[in-house]
Amino acid sequence: MRLSTSAVLALPLLAAAQGPLEQFEQYKAQFQNFLSNFGAKAPAEAPSVKTNPVQAAEAAIGATQVDVLTLSNWKDVLNGPVKADSTTPTEWWVFISGGNKTCFGHCEKVEKAFNASAAKFALLPKAPHMAIINCDDQPVLCNSWSASSGTVWAIDMVPPPAPVEIYRKRMNLTATATTDQTFVDLYNKGDKEGWSYHDGYFHPFNGPLAKNGLSVPLGYFFYVFNAIPSWAMMLVVSFFSRNIM
Ligand SMILES: *[C@@H]1O[C@H](CO)[C@@H](O)[C@H](O)[C@H]1NC(C)=O
Ligand SMILES: *[C@@H]1O[C@H](CO)[C@@H](O)[C@H](O)[C@H]1NC(C)=O
Ligand SMILES: *[C@@H]1O[C@H](CO)[C@@H](O)[C@H](O)[C@H]1NC(C)=O
Repeated sequence: MRLSTSAVLALPLLAAAQGPLEQFEQYKAQFQNFLSNFGAKAPAEAPSVKTNPVQAAEAAIGATQVDVLTLSNWKDVLNGPVKADSTTPTEWWVFISGGNKTCFGHCEKVEKAFNASAAKFALLPKAPHMAIINCDDQPVLCNSWSASSGTVWAIDMVPPPAPVEIYRKRMNLTATATTDQTFVDLYNKGDKEGWSYHDGYFHPFNGPLAKNGLSVPLGYFFYVFNAIPSWAMMLVVSFFSRNIM
């Protein structure tokens, strides 16, 4: 077994460039790599003691998982539980979240409530599949869907080529307005009153852009467009107008 010296030398350098947490993670990963060379495993973290009844039941039944969607996995994840011959839709609830850039820091509490609702859903006989998209992390995906943070998308997945119905609802991001129970109540209500039906150009399945393979290129376009500061835009515009006139 060889441990390359450059890797060892690089460690303190990497560490110097990062905060203590990343530093720790870095060392942990390195350590695990090191051990795996011997076929050993780093000790697993001790399972946390579950005393809360919801958590206990969740452990017994298997919690409703909250998937994290990305530009490369969203189609596979959403299609994952859909059977090819299924005639009833498989309902997904996707919370469009974001951090300081795309949600001004208002989404985190609601995202936490959404995550927590998964534990409650796990106790119910009927529950949606759940996922989140963080628009800070996935700007291209959010732009290609034209999705704004702070909304829930209820997506009724059916085997292709049947059209996929989507309803969207903006959640109240005020500190105490939306809790885990809000999502459970909303689902148990059983109808889509107060939701808006999505049939726009940017519909990720049925929309003309998606059907023509244009939503992702447009997603990149808007992402870059938004990232360009306005003074740079003005420079480009004045450059072009001067050259044309
Ligand atoms: C978001 O902004 C707040 C306040 O400016 C800051 O405390 C927090 O660390 C930021 N979060 C992230 C993920 O950058
Ligand atoms: C919600 O759950 C997802 C998936 O487990 C996780 O990536 C995300 O950080 C969680 N969000 C919060 C605010 O805890
Ligand atoms: C959100 O909730 C707060 C507190 O419950 C309430 O005052 C506010 O009117 C709500 N906003 C919307 C848009 O419903």
